[in-house]
Amino acid sequence: MTDLILPGLIDVHTHLRVPGGAHKEDFATGTAAALAGGITLLLAMPNTSPPLTTPAALAAARAAAAADARCDVGLFAGAAPADIDQLPALAPDAAALKIYLNDTFGRLRVDDLPTLVACFQTWPREKLIALHAEKQSVAVAIGLAAIYDRAVHICHVSRREEIELIADAKGRGLLVTCEVTPHHLFLSQADAARLGPLGDMRPVLGAADDVAALWAHLNDTVDCIATDHAPHTLEEKRSDAPPPGVPGLETSLPLMLAAVEDGRLSVERLTALMHDNPRRLFGLPQQPDTRVEVDMTPYTIPAGGWQTKCGWTAFAGLRAGGRVRRVVLRGQVVYEDGAVLAAPGSGKVL
Ligand code: DOR
Ligand code: ZN
Ligand code: ZN
Repeated sequence: MTDLILPGLIDVHTHLRVPGGAHKEDFATGTAAALAGGITLLLAMPNTSPPLTTPAALAAARAAAAADARCDVGLFAGAAPADIDQLPALAPDAAALKIYLNDTFGRLRVDDLPTLVACFQTWPREKLIALHAEKQSVAVAIGLAAIYDRAVHICHVSRREEIELIADAKGRGLLVTCEVTPHHLFLSQADAARLGPLGDMRPVLGAADDVAALWAHLNDTVDCIATDHAPHTLEEKRSDAPPPGVPGLETSLPLMLAAVEDGRLSVERLTALMHDNPRRLFGLPQQPDTRVEVDMTPYTIPAGGWQTKCGWTAFAGLRAGGRVRRVVLRGQVVYEDGAVLAAPGSGKVL
């Protein structure tokens, strides 16, 4: 039964692991997971191996996406001190620039001021700069938006003081936007203790007070819901050095629909957070004749049965407010009742 029709959802923060990590995910499996979650356009992150900081690496990733993607894909270029002179050459083939200010999975990092300044001086103004910024790095990102009078997008905000600082920056008219992930909205430190390495990611899960602050700002300060889908194998997660990150493409909409169901979020606001704002902020193309048909019968999120290659979830046992029944992309049924119908290579690369 179809209770709700949404536009094709947009995830502006997905890790698809090609090149260098195809055993975790690749464009075919990651975009299958996206369609199963009602996502028809995603932006893939550049912290691959090698990272997408040179035209050659970006071209290779684009070729892999063109061959394998089942939904539309844009790629982030990455900022790295050694490759910073490559930014103008990267820009035409990238949807946006990603700067990592804090430690996370992979080696991509900017922790020197000359590199940061070069990013803001040479990246084209019409393309967005997104930052992995935590704690005081959020203030650095906001300061750069002010100094260069240009837009910055702050990824996966997770702490009360961060979302409050962003709210103040917006109140002063600065060009700052942000995203929040379902894991930072639906899980907290208590879950991290229960889940062990399966509940570890960057930023780490917050305290109950941080979670409450994110919910309190969902209707004003938060611009986008983004998955930060970060697949790692169960073997890697259970190893002595578990990498941070959790998959999220297939559970993002079902979880947000639970918030719709219990009256914490309107369908209009969900559509703004998961389609309208991502499209506008990143300047993404419309997808004509594209929709997501949703069955609003609540259920419990299962442990398995996923399209993502990593095959697990941190959300098992949580309540979902609805499930994706059918996805239509440019007039073609690409997902229906658990089956991914889109062929690898049928998605467009932006
Ligand atoms: O937990 C995370 N995992 N946070 C990030 O910023 C990167 C991601 C990954 O690539 O695994
Ligand atoms: Zn990040
Ligand atoms: Zn990420």
